[in-house]
Amino acid sequence: MLPQTNYHVSEYEMALAHTPVLLDELVDLLQPAAGETAFDATFGAGGHAAAVARRLGADGLLIACDRDPTVAEYFRDVAREAPCATELYHGNFADVLAARPDASVDIIYLDLGVSSMQLDRRERGFSYAWDAPLDMRMDPSQAVTAADLVNTLSVAELTDVFRRYGEERYAVDIARRIERQRSRQPFETTGQLVDVIKCAIPTPARFGAGNPARRVFQALRIVVNNELESLARGLEEAYRVLKPGGRLAAISFHSLEDRTVKQFFRGHAAGCICPPGLPICVCGHEPTMRVLTRRPVTPRAHEIESNARAKAAKLRAAVKLEA
Ligand SMILES: C[S@@+](CC[C@H](N)C(=O)[O-])C[C@H]1O[C@@H](n2cnc3c(N)ncnc32)[C@H](O)[C@@H]1O
Repeated sequence: MLPQTNYHVSEYEMALAHTPVLLDELVDLLQPAAGETAFDATFGAGGHAAAVARRLGADGLLIACDRDPTVAEYFRDVAREAPCATELYHGNFADVLAARPDASVDIIYLDLGVSSMQLDRRERGFSYAWDAPLDMRMDPSQAVTAADLVNTLSVAELTDVFRRYGEERYAVDIARRIERQRSRQPFETTGQLVDVIKCAIPTPARFGAGNPARRVFQALRIVVNNELESLARGLEEAYRVLKPGGRLAAISFHSLEDRTVKQFFRGHAAGCICPPGLPICVCGHEPTMRVLTRRPVTPRAHEIESNARAKAAKLRAAVKLEA
């Protein structure tokens, strides 16, 4: 359960709370029903959780989880309005799911990445839009910050991080420039990093689509929070924890996340995995999930118009089959 923290959410921040992405589509796929148990792996401001909880009725249970302790204030509001029982866990969803018994939950969903509140709170250091400590930890009790990575990884390691997790074309130029800069003065703020990125890339690329620091910030955030490893482990644990007939959904915001979800579902939905050309099946492999989204569900134009963050969202879902 959540420990006490020194973070407090202002009324202003509550008013600006995260708008849930693909809400109707998620609820349509998950079909929450009265008396069921649902696990919201990434509670945030609880927009998805509130809608799911309303459908669980008095006998249902909503289990909420988030690495960020500041969600506790949003959870209190959702719990007050929910007709069902509610519980909140603080931690990485992969670990929280790992502690749950097999086949005990009807619905599990993940809405990945950072929340608007995390981006908008300057002191969290997720945004390149203003100068703040170079932090990016979703859970402020994590040991390693983005500044630690930028100040200690080798040029080769930084290049690999920027390429692999940010698909940054100028990865090596930025890594070299970082090394030069930190030998004079260690990085402490987002602004220092943005300045170095701008200097490291050719002038025309600075004026291309989006902020030139976006890809490096995404890459550092993924590594600071170990996001892809958590996702892969979380999906495996979610499968174990789901009851047969249970539904699993994930909303992702970049291709690395979406690929992880797609491959996970594909692996579970595959029947025979014998090498091609064998006259009969010798593997005996049976599908363990049925995919509910042949293609990822994406937001409609009106959702993107009212919430720019929704633009990159992709929703996939699957149902666990009887053994
Ligand atoms: C996009 S927001 C979720 C928004 C939420 N669905 C809503 O409607 O308000 C993502 C949240 O997931 C949390 N998160 C990301 N990775 C996590 C992980 N591995 N374990 C637990 N929480 C995680 C973040 O701290 C953030 O609060």
